[in-house]
Amino acid sequence: MLLQLLSVLWEALSLQVILVFLATFLLVADYKKQIRPRNYPPGPMLLPLLGNMLHVDFKKPHISLQKLTEKYGNVYSLQVGSMRFVVVNGLHLVKEALVHQGENFVDRPSSPGIQGIYGSSGLVFSNGLIWKQQRRFALSTLRNFGMGKRSLEERIQEESRYLNEAIEAEKGQPFDPQSQINNAVSNIICSITFGDRFDYHDSRFHKLLHLLDEACHIQGSFWSVLYDVFPTVMKHLPGPHQTLFKKWGQVKSFVREIIEKHKEDWNPSEPRDFIDAYLNEMAKEDAPSSFHEESLLQSTLDLFSSGTESTSTTLRWALLYMAIYPEIQAKVQAEIDSVIGQSRQPAVDDRDSMPYTNAVVHEIQRISNIVPANSPRMTTKDTTLAGFHIPKGTIMFANLTSVLFDKDEWETPNEFNPGHFLENDQFMKREAFLPFSAGKRACLGEQLARTELFLFFTALIQKFTFQAPKNETLSREFRVGLVLSPLPYRICAFSR
Ligand code: HEM
Ligand SMILES: *[C@@H]1O[C@H](CO)[C@@H](O)[C@H](O)[C@H]1NC(C)=O
Ligand SMILES: *[C@@H]1O[C@H](CO)[C@@H](O)[C@H](O)[C@H]1NC(C)=O
Repeated sequence: MLLQLLSVLWEALSLQVILVFLATFLLVADYKKQIRPRNYPPGPMLLPLLGNMLHVDFKKPHISLQKLTEKYGNVYSLQVGSMRFVVVNGLHLVKEALVHQGENFVDRPSSPGIQGIYGSSGLVFSNGLIWKQQRRFALSTLRNFGMGKRSLEERIQEESRYLNEAIEAEKGQPFDPQSQINNAVSNIICSITFGDRFDYHDSRFHKLLHLLDEACHIQGSFWSVLYDVFPTVMKHLPGPHQTLFKKWGQVKSFVREIIEKHKEDWNPSEPRDFIDAYLNEMAKEDAPSSFHEESLLQSTLDLFSSGTESTSTTLRWALLYMAIYPEIQAKVQAEIDSVIGQSRQPAVDDRDSMPYTNAVVHEIQRISNIVPANSPRMTTKDTTLAGFHIPKGTIMFANLTSVLFDKDEWETPNEFNPGHFLENDQFMKREAFLPFSAGKRACLGEQLARTELFLFFTALIQKFTFQAPKNETLSREFRVGLVLSPLPYRICAFSR
């Protein structure tokens, strides 16, 4: 997607790829669109046709972007081909854009690739009334499941037992925890949307997760960019983008089948899950117009794709940090032992009496910074930010990295330091803690994610001590795909 451009910029690209990229833009760039509007945020001089293509060193994109911020300040503009975007830095301006001017920056940009996969229904890529209706419904449904017969908390506790069993089975030998964690986290979404979890060995489950993973991988790749720039030609050419549409097609038929099953044994007076609740909504006489089967499918998929990788990646960072900082892990264990003990499972209510563990979970989210430039937004009308004119339809990246590592907000921004969230041993909220973004279009799953992170993490640290394998050092290096994630690592989990 064009939207993944920033992560593509971030990834080091090979020379060959850059050449194709340049050639493509040379062909399609529209020179007229490159004239800057008046009072537009500053940025590097635009080259004919190329825009700012050459201002970004593809081998070290973060360094060239850092230089741009230093040179042009907290709001600057870049242009690639005919695509124009602004980057906003620092807590103050990010909040100004996302919260105080929330309405002006609430849309998401689209692109041919996004249209092909998502259409304009659903939660993540819809805009306007459709987005409002779908978001309101999803939020209230998730909230109701928190209070329903089997609460969200119970579902997560149950899954947590399965996760611990799967990790126990590794018997303290080095292993990569990715698949166990991913299974556990995506089962929570399965349970909410489909009504049931899958066994970790279920082959249908594996197939679904594998398809999603592949689809996300290709979507974050250069081929998607190419498709977005050149849809009419690319439509007829072979390449991974064709596979992408095929994979998404398969994911969709998987979910469609589950929806058909739900229709067969649906009981309107007892909705079991998100799909049942949605069918109820569709059946209402005064149902809002955006509720139909296509959007049921899309909203379900959106919950899946936004809810799984983000949370499971954060948990992978969590185990990594615990193994790198054994003294912090030991303090979490001491707090668990005194508040919960070894005989019962952690519960949400424990969080208030566990300031240290709570601070550690927050610090893990801050430092792992998994959505570094937020999801892209687009202005709904002409607006003014920091005195600059930003026309309607401009793509805006709120640089969450610049907030989570803001030198004016954090005592030791680059250090893993749970003290950032503690004052006199009590938990302390911080304004610059924005891993879920802020404002009207902030993460829809924040409550769910926070509950999952606390319960899974605490249950794991209650039962295990995580350590680097003998003679191996663990690295904090990351890679940037759809989210910023640790490089695959191996770890040992010793039962306590
Ligand atoms: C640690 C876990 C998570 C992090 C760090 C995270 C972060 C984010 C961020 C930064 C955004 C973009 C918000 C914006 O544009 O301002 C977002 C959007 C979204 N997230 Fe999450 N998220 C997490 C977990 C989840 C979960 C578990 C769900 C499942 C319900 C979820 C569902 C969504 C949805 C549906 C959107 C799109 C909202 C919209 O466009 O209205 N997220 N998330
Ligand atoms: C975001 O902020 C960080 C930290 O200030 C900076 O290193 C990075 O270059 C910024 N990214 C962009 C796209 O401006
Ligand atoms: C670790 O390294 C030491 C010294 O290099 C070696 O004797 C030992 O066998 C290694 N242990 C493992 C588990 O590889």
